[in-house]
Amino acid sequence: MTATRLVPVETLQRIVETASRAPSVHNTQPWRWRGGPRTLELFADRTHQLSETDPLGRNLTISCGAALHHAQVAAAALGWSTGVVRHPDAAQPDLLAALELSPGTPSPTASETLAAIATRRTDRRRFNTWPVPEERQAHLARIANQWDARAVALTDESERYIAERLVRRAAEHQREDPAARAEQERWPQRQAGDGVPAGALPAPSDRAGAHPHRFEGTVWEDHPGPEVEATDGLIVFFDTRDDPPAWLRAGEGLSAMWLAAEEGGLSLVPLSQVIEVAETRRAFQVEVLGSLAHPLLLVRVGWRSTAGTSLAPTPRRTVSEVLDLA
Ligand SMILES: Cc1cc2nc3c(=O)[nH]c(=O)nc-3n(C[C@H](O)[C@H](O)[C@H](O)COP(=O)(O)O)c2cc1C
Repeated sequence: MTATRLVPVETLQRIVETASRAPSVHNTQPWRWRGGPRTLELFADRTHQLSETDPLGRNLTISCGAALHHAQVAAAALGWSTGVVRHPDAAQPDLLAALELSPGTPSPTASETLAAIATRRTDRRRFNTWPVPEERQAHLARIANQWDARAVALTDESERYIAERLVRRAAEHQREDPAARAEQERWPQRQAGDGVPAGALPAPSDRAGAHPHRFEGTVWEDHPGPEVEATDGLIVFFDTRDDPPAWLRAGEGLSAMWLAAEEGGLSLVPLSQVIEVAETRRAFQVEVLGSLAHPLLLVRVGWRSTAGTSLAPTPRRTVSEVLDLA
């Protein structure tokens, strides 16, 4: 019988560093990790929760799910097998997952996914105008499903029309809500290794024909372009429950889908305002999902423009800020 090797601290650090590249709402990075001799535990960091627009922590937990998926990719690329227990302790609801690490062999496909982690960005510039074939969108949804998330492409014209109308209404709703607006305006200006810096947003020269996006502030008023183009793919994450396990699964599925999109030349932009605003979330549930399930996140997918330059990466908190070693 071979003794189980303990995980070196550098390995834990490298996994957490890669996990930190995960997308998160407003780049809040609402996670903390605790590294043990052979485990990594993932906790929700409530100090990085958006209390106005995400009081339940739905977006926070989806973001943590994305980091959990990134961590599994990193471990596999480094040659570690992971056994993941989600929500291992009902008495600690902020303990979202425990990863048990054991020696394995480095996975070649994980290395490719690791490369996609390095290049992935939320690219809010205009996509290429080629339509995303329905089969391609269905394929992305299936990738999320493999992670136990539920996702489906909205291809029906009337569903897309309703979704687009609700996206626009949610954005207007938050613009008219001083507290939501103030919360959002705080994150682009942060200089603490988090938040969304100006360099990650479309430059003024890229604005012609660009989509409006939630960080545009006052520019938006002069720029009423469509939030969703006819050629964009629209994929909704949903579940029969609107609770932390469903959110965590959606986050893992989102990460898997986004990295596959990146590898295939597609860009993905989450449109979470429509879910954040209670009125549009309920309307989406009834009018698009036929009251059968809860919408958790809507994403827009399109071909990356080949003309554009690469976007600067958004900053991340340092590993020592988010990893405690037991
Ligand atoms: C749950 C979730 C919700 C998000 N919602 C939006 C959104 O409504 N609009 C948007 O432009 N970006 C949204 N994003 C993208 C984040 O702003 C982005 O991931 C973050 O700023 C980090 O940048 P990066 O993805 O380029 O690494 C969301 C991301 C996540 C994970």
